[in-house]
Amino acid sequence: MEKYLINPNQKLSKINRDIYGCFSEHLGRCIYEGTYVGEDSPIPNVNGMRTDVVTALKDMGLPVLRWPGGCFADEYHWKDGIGKKEERPTMFDVYWGGVVENNSFGTHEFFELCKQVGCEAYVAGNVCSGTAQEMNDWIEYMTSDKPSTMTKLRKENGQEKPWRVKYFGVGNESYGCGGNMEPEYYADEYRRYATYLRTYDLNNKPLKVACGPSGNMPGYCHWADVVMKKAGGYMDALSLHYYAGDHTERAREFSDEGFYRVMKNAYQMDEHIQRTSEIMNRYDPQKRVVLAVDEWGVWCKPEEGTNPRFLYQQNTVRDALVAGLTLNIFNKHSDRVRMATLAQTVNVLQSVALTDGEAMVRTPTYYVFKMYKDHHDNTLLGSYITAKNLCEDGNLPQLIESASMKEDGTIVSTIVNTSMSESAEVHCQIADFKVKEITAEIVTGDAHDYNDFGEEEVVKTCGFENFKKTEDGFTATIPPCSVVKFLIK
Ligand code: AHR
Repeated sequence: MEKYLINPNQKLSKINRDIYGCFSEHLGRCIYEGTYVGEDSPIPNVNGMRTDVVTALKDMGLPVLRWPGGCFADEYHWKDGIGKKEERPTMFDVYWGGVVENNSFGTHEFFELCKQVGCEAYVAGNVCSGTAQEMNDWIEYMTSDKPSTMTKLRKENGQEKPWRVKYFGVGNESYGCGGNMEPEYYADEYRRYATYLRTYDLNNKPLKVACGPSGNMPGYCHWADVVMKKAGGYMDALSLHYYAGDHTERAREFSDEGFYRVMKNAYQMDEHIQRTSEIMNRYDPQKRVVLAVDEWGVWCKPEEGTNPRFLYQQNTVRDALVAGLTLNIFNKHSDRVRMATLAQTVNVLQSVALTDGEAMVRTPTYYVFKMYKDHHDNTLLGSYITAKNLCEDGNLPQLIESASMKEDGTIVSTIVNTSMSESAEVHCQIADFKVKEITAEIVTGDAHDYNDFGEEEVVKTCGFENFKKTEDGFTATIPPCSVVKFLIK
C-alpha cells in the first residue's frame, strides 16, 4: 500500500491557470484546416474559425494561446498578414514542409480566435529576420490607442480598440532555428529589442518572454546562466522548451520499451525545471521572472503517408499520461512555472484535437487538460506519495501526483499511474481535515488506445468509484495507465 499525504496547512504557491495553455504554429495543418478554414468553407465556422475546435478549446478552459511560432515566428513578417486578404503577399515556407503560406490567417484572425475561445494572447516576435522597428510596430499596432500611424492602420483594417496582449516573445529558440546565436549575443540582442518595445498603455503591457534553453541542447546551463545574468533584469519570463521525444517509433505503434522511454523522458521535465530554477534563483531570488515552458509534449515519428515536416501524430492513452504527469510537475513548481503551452493545439505533435476534413476528434490529452481545469488558480498544497521506481536505468515513479485547494476549501488531487500493467493501492491521509464527500473521475485505457475519426470515442473522462472514503482521506486502487482526479470536500 502506497502512502499519500496531503497537508492543507502547507499552503504553497498559486497555480497560475496559464500553465494550461497551448501553442499554435503555422506548421502543417495546425492553423489552416485545423483551426482556420475561412468564411466560405462548408465546414461550420464563425468568421473562418472552426466551430468544433473553438467549442472544444472553450470547454477545455484554454487560458492562453501562443502564436505564430515556433521556428515560424522568426521568419514571419506580421505586416504580410493584415489588410485585404486578396492583397496579402504569399510566402514559401521552406522550413515547415515547403508549402505556400497565403497569410489569410494573420493578426486580426488570431485575436478573433482568442476572442471566440475566451483566452489570452501570447504573440511571438521575430528577432532572427526582423528588425526592432518591425517588432515595436507590431506591439504598437496591437496595443496602442494613441494617435499614430500604426493605430490608424489597425483602425483602417477594421479593429477600433487595441487588443490585449498578455505575453510577447522576443525570438524563439535563438540558439537554433531562431538564428544559431551564442547566448552572449542573444542576450545583447534581447536587451536591444526589449528596450525598443514601448509601452503604449500601462494597463496593456505585454510580459516580455526571453528565449531560454531547451531540455535537449548541449550547453543548456551556460545558455540559461548567460541570458539570466546579462538580460534577466529586462525580462518578465524566460522560456524553456522540452519534448519527450521518441523519433524511432510512431505515436500509436510503440513497444513496451518505447512506452517507458517516453514516460521516463517526460518525467525528466522535473529535472529541467529544477536546474533552470536553480540558475534563475542566482539572479532572481524573488522569483519575479516567470519560467515559461512554452513548448512541451511528446514528439514521435510522423504518421506514415503524411508530410514528415507537418509533424502530424495521433494521440493515445500514453499521451494522456504524459499530459497528466507533466501538469502535476508544473503544479508542484508553480512558484516559478507560471505559464506553459503544449506543443501544439491541433494536428501537430501532442495535440488536444485532430481534424480530418469536416471531422474532429478530442484526443486523450484533451480530456486530461479538461479534467485539470479544477486546479486552475488554486493554491498548491504540500503533498507527498510513496511509489516504486519503474525504470532500472533512470527515474520513473509509478505514481506522480499534485494537490491543490480551491477558494471554497475543496481539495483537488490528481494522480497518474505510469505503469502499463500494474495497479497501485493508495492510502491517502489529509492532515487536520474531516472528509465529508469525495467524487472522482478517470481517464484510462490500454496504453495504445486512441480516438479515431468516424468511431465512437474510446478514451474519455469517466466516473471513478474504486475508492473508499475514510475519516481523513481515502483508500483507492489506481488502475495502470490512468490519470485520476479526486475532489475532496
Ligand atoms: O513545435 C515544433 C517546433 O519545435 C517549433 O517550431 C520549434 O520552436 C521547436 O523546435
